[in-house]
Amino acid sequence: MADDIIEVKPEIAATAHIDAAKLAAMVAAEARDAEAFWRTEMGRVAWMKEPTKIKSVDFTGDVSIKWFEDGVLNASVSCLDRHLARRGDQVAIIWEGDDPNSDAKVTYRELHKRVCKLANAMRRLGVKKGDRVCIYLPMIVEAAVAMLACARVGAIHSIVFGGFSPDSLSSRIQDSECTLLITADEGRRGGRKVPLKANADEALLTCPSIRHVVVAKNTGGAVEMMAGRDHWWDAITSGEGETCEPEPMSSEDPLFILYTSGSTGKPKGVLHTTGGYMVWASFTHENVFDYRDGEIYWCTADVGWVTGHTYIVYGPLANGATTLMFEGVPSWPDNGRFWQVCAKHKVNIFYTAPTAIRALMRDGEAPVRKHDRSSLRILGSVGEPINPEAWLWYYRVVGDERCPIVDTWWQTETGGILISPLPGAVAQKPGSATLPLPGVKPALVDNDGNLLEGATEGNLVMLDAWPGMMRTIYGDHARFGQTYFSTFKGMYFTGDGARRDADGYYWITGRVDDVINVAGHRMGTAEVESALVAHPAVAEAAVVGMPHEIKGQGIYAYVTLKAGVDSTEALRKELVAWVRKEIGPIATPDAIQWAPGLPKTRSGKIMRRILRKIAANETEGLGDTSTLADPGVVQELIDNKVG
Ligand code: PRX
Repeated sequence: MADDIIEVKPEIAATAHIDAAKLAAMVAAEARDAEAFWRTEMGRVAWMKEPTKIKSVDFTGDVSIKWFEDGVLNASVSCLDRHLARRGDQVAIIWEGDDPNSDAKVTYRELHKRVCKLANAMRRLGVKKGDRVCIYLPMIVEAAVAMLACARVGAIHSIVFGGFSPDSLSSRIQDSECTLLITADEGRRGGRKVPLKANADEALLTCPSIRHVVVAKNTGGAVEMMAGRDHWWDAITSGEGETCEPEPMSSEDPLFILYTSGSTGKPKGVLHTTGGYMVWASFTHENVFDYRDGEIYWCTADVGWVTGHTYIVYGPLANGATTLMFEGVPSWPDNGRFWQVCAKHKVNIFYTAPTAIRALMRDGEAPVRKHDRSSLRILGSVGEPINPEAWLWYYRVVGDERCPIVDTWWQTETGGILISPLPGAVAQKPGSATLPLPGVKPALVDNDGNLLEGATEGNLVMLDAWPGMMRTIYGDHARFGQTYFSTFKGMYFTGDGARRDADGYYWITGRVDDVINVAGHRMGTAEVESALVAHPAVAEAAVVGMPHEIKGQGIYAYVTLKAGVDSTEALRKELVAWVRKEIGPIATPDAIQWAPGLPKTRSGKIMRRILRKIAANETEGLGDTSTLADPGVVQELIDNKVG
């Protein structure tokens, strides 16, 4: 099954932006003269001053990545102003609420107005170019307005997913010293309320850099407002003008910071700049989804993740698309919700995560078949490997074998899609992200950094830069070089492993570091461990991913209690609740095993390889355990495995 090939459909190739011949020509043109290629593509965004320098990249030494560096632009102008003449009355955002009876449509003209008003209010609050603004909002139109208003005034936004705890919010605000926080009274998800303002109040007890808080009224729930610090969105924007001078930004001025998990330490502030990111967002959105004027495009991600940044807001709006923003969840009020929304808004392009597909698959075909999906043209997948079974179900049941599936591989760091089929040009294989986009130079290397040729498996690296890649870790350029460019000298290391088949297709096998991917949410095992050891009963903890039928990976924690503490069921529940409170519900451990001891080398290093195998029930081939300080602990852990 995994080796099925779904050929490009002639009727799709005939009208697609890019067919096989055009793709070959693009790849050849890029290879011949990359600068000329990107000089043409940079015309996708509106420049105040056209760049003359295209690319300046060094993956060695201090690592420096610059694209279009002498260009000047403002991202909000590319997303709004330049569309007004031709599509002012076109819907820019369709908002579909958590409650199936609430929705809204916002035209480009209206969105422009709302962005300008907020941008003016932000300036009045003292926000200047380069200041950091934290956004902690649910999936409401205000989230897009806030992002674009930041871009308008040159402030760097840092969005924190609304599911994160006060502690997680606070540490992200502190790291980039944000001066303004934009939040809402409450969010809604699956019929429940999320206390965003109350969480923010708690977080702000430890955030001295925040001077003002703007609060959008969403549910109307009661919140406390601190005089002088907190302002209602409507109150501070109502008197503001409907136009706002965009801040001229150099191409390499930052657009946003987005925190993401790594294998060690606290989350890193991935920094993206303006020109290259916008070109990449537009280029990939148009070509990967074969987006055509007038189509309704829906990406189900949350703006708190990079997918929401690039493929709900910046890419679609740069391309003058109609983008759908969904506040709810796939399973509420029932598990036909996605397809009901597709029918209601006549969605043409639908982009979601494998975990959602796997969860819906469990409920069979009826909830899908009940709704009219004839508007669908292209389906997309992102965030984790999609197993062939889920791929084929998505293809057969959701897309009626009519819609190509683009399995898009990328990362917070890459800014946009790097490996994906183009619907009119590349035959699909269920489970493979297929081939790199023009301008993307993947390679596989062994653990010593030797390039591997042909059909093989190894560590996935990129040999050269593309315009949308991250530029640094906010406030820690040394860590940037260390994290991404030191494992394999002169190459960007993705942290993923991959297989390449005889057709050159890439099959992502998952992370090769201590990052896990739980229901498409990226998490550092170290973060969960430090949350656990912060509990007074815990002496030591080791966290690994375990295979999970729906989430892809689940969180498996081995916990060593302090002497004298009883390993009770009540304590197990308490620790699960503790981690949820410390990080957020996405970090909820799926299993906690009491571990009187952990397998360690004689130098004290925890052997995670062994812990991963035990959690996965793969205890046959545990490999060499003779270097362990106490080999006896392994059998003890196997005997007491939970689940
Ligand atoms: O392991 C890869 C997996 O998600 C990681 C990136 O996570 P994040 O930065 O949160 O971005 C997610 C959305 C782009 C990658 O290192 N991943 C992402 N897309 C795929 C994938 N694994 C396999 N196939 C994909 N299509």
